[in-house]
Amino acid sequence: MKTQSISKQRRKVLFTILGGIGTLIGIALTWPVFRFLAPRERGDNNEKTFISSELVKLGKAHFFQFHGKAAVVIQLSPVNFVALSAVCTHLGCIVAWQEQAKEFLCPCHGGRFSAEGKVLGGPPPKPLETYDVELKEGQLIIG
Ligand code: FES
Repeated sequence: MKTQSISKQRRKVLFTILGGIGTLIGIALTWPVFRFLAPRERGDNNEKTFISSELVKLGKAHFFQFHGKAAVVIQLSPVNFVALSAVCTHLGCIVAWQEQAKEFLCPCHGGRFSAEGKVLGGPPPKPLETYDVELKEGQLIIG
């Protein structure tokens, strides 16, 4: 009788240990799948970009990378800067600044945008994305 009780206890302890090991193996096997399926963290998407204001000349465009995409900042007046995505909203070509006309021209299908990013003509369905820009102590803070 006592031998049976000890045997039952051993069996119970053994099952508990095996259950714990099985649970750990299950977690170890499903964790990579969970990480793959989980939404990506925003990472640097909240980070701002700093550009020396000396790099941006009045009436000229300064292109840079913003969160891995082409972007541009223009100084429209001594205190007015505009920061935009340089990716055309039609099919994603990179727009070029036309200094004489003071507008952006997309080289792919002739889309035209104002210095503020508004569509002036061509196939682009919507304006260029705009970013906040602030001038502080000689630095343009974008984002
Ligand atoms: Fe810019 Fe088509 S991609 S106008």
